[in-house]
Amino acid sequence: MSISTKALIESFAQAGQGQVFQFFDQLDADGQARLVAQAETIDLAEVDALVAEHVKAAHESKLNLDGLQPASYKALPSKGGDSAQWKAAWDAGSAAIQAGRVAAFTVAGGQGTRLGYDGPKGTYPITPVTEKTLFQVFAEKIARSGERFGVTIPWFILTSEINNDATVAAFEAADYFGLDRGSVHFIVQGLVPAVDCEGKILLAAKGKIAMTPDGHGGSLRALVRSGAIDKMKAQGIDIVSYFQVDNPIVQCIDPAFIGFHVLGQSELSSKMVPKAYALEKVGHFCMQYGTALVVEYSDMPAELQEATNEDGFIRFNGGSVAIHVFDRDFIGRAGGTGEGAKLPFHRADKKIPYVDASGETIKPDEPNGVKFEMFVFDALPLAKNPVIIEASRADDFSPVKNADGVDSPKTCKEDQLRMFARWLKAAGERIETDDSGLPKITFEISPRFAADEADFVAQWGGLDPKPAITEGTVIK
Ligand code: UD1
Repeated sequence: MSISTKALIESFAQAGQGQVFQFFDQLDADGQARLVAQAETIDLAEVDALVAEHVKAAHESKLNLDGLQPASYKALPSKGGDSAQWKAAWDAGSAAIQAGRVAAFTVAGGQGTRLGYDGPKGTYPITPVTEKTLFQVFAEKIARSGERFGVTIPWFILTSEINNDATVAAFEAADYFGLDRGSVHFIVQGLVPAVDCEGKILLAAKGKIAMTPDGHGGSLRALVRSGAIDKMKAQGIDIVSYFQVDNPIVQCIDPAFIGFHVLGQSELSSKMVPKAYALEKVGHFCMQYGTALVVEYSDMPAELQEATNEDGFIRFNGGSVAIHVFDRDFIGRAGGTGEGAKLPFHRADKKIPYVDASGETIKPDEPNGVKFEMFVFDALPLAKNPVIIEASRADDFSPVKNADGVDSPKTCKEDQLRMFARWLKAAGERIETDDSGLPKITFEISPRFAADEADFVAQWGGLDPKPAITEGTVIK
């Protein structure tokens, strides 16, 4: 055994984590090398601190709700916002995109277990007619936005060790969906070990530590560690448009949103939508003694979630849809190693298959261990001049989270159809819909054709002849 391997094993023993190597002697040379390589990625001091804070200490929500207020936001013009301000924001955002200052950033490192789909979530087919995948939809939107503003918009994609190879293979197989492959960058996020209820690191197999992605909050440090931030700097990119892989109707590159961010000299801007109902499972945009923050539904008592103003409206109404614009240097700070910048970890109790002391693999029926995750919205309190703008749910948010019911492929396809029908109506076309705006026929507007409603109206106006919209039509 090499001196460095001996020292590594000793450091785990010293940290009270010697069980990680309990089957080391039973592994062949390759197995030993793999376990050592995995163990080397673990920051034992970090694990120790996480266990002390989240496993050994009582773990009720420590959130202090004193002085919590709903955060203010820029209302949409259709909801009483100042249309001149939105126009100015659109102009400023367009100028920033045109100047090549903007990159797209998708977080796609999660496990997507709820959907029950085996494979990177981005490879899930989602459009109603041609069944384009989530990744293809984003690729085409980014390509269209680049074309609209005369630039190539770089795209950074967060993966994790669990899905990176399959993600890259999907892009290769699709020839990068027509994008310049040099403009697509995969960033592999970090993993943290899962522990049992005593804080001991679990083994997934005799020679394999149970590790999970460090949460979408880990995207910030992944951007720093991978050198992506330096790459952006070298290319003159200082604005990062962030969205989740599960939401195909997001405006990947939204000029008005980017403009509000630029004009507000914001380090982190966010989109809110009014909650659909009081107990909707979303984060809430709040202010606490002058600092903006997101409070997850799970951390906010039901009576606060349901509280109403004198006018009867829900008081904490600002739902987080996980769409943000980041300042590049702010990512460098919040994802760096400097004091006070680090995002906190959260605890999640999970069923984690593990190898017990006798070497047997156990598949638990009840949560038996703890995973640690960082949440990207915890960066909000660290940011200067945060800006929150209102988004229309119909134009920005219809996530695919569950196999059936709410936020499922079915609801998402219907929301896409409603959006397509609305865009056509905005362009002066007639299309028959039900009371919810759902068209009677299934058709599709290619994201490559138009990036948003205003873009569609302009593009449609230039089409001559215009296609008839019938069952199965694809406007492209
Ligand atoms: C999340 C937000 C919630 C927001 C909602 C909007 C949290 C805790 N909550 O809920 O406030 O209202 O989205 O849809 O995040 N991901 C990674 N790496 C990871 C973990 C996740 O890249 O380690 C990515 C996933 O691939 C996905 C996104 O982050 O794109 C969201 O993850 P998910 O766990 O599904 O969040 P939700 O609980 O649905």
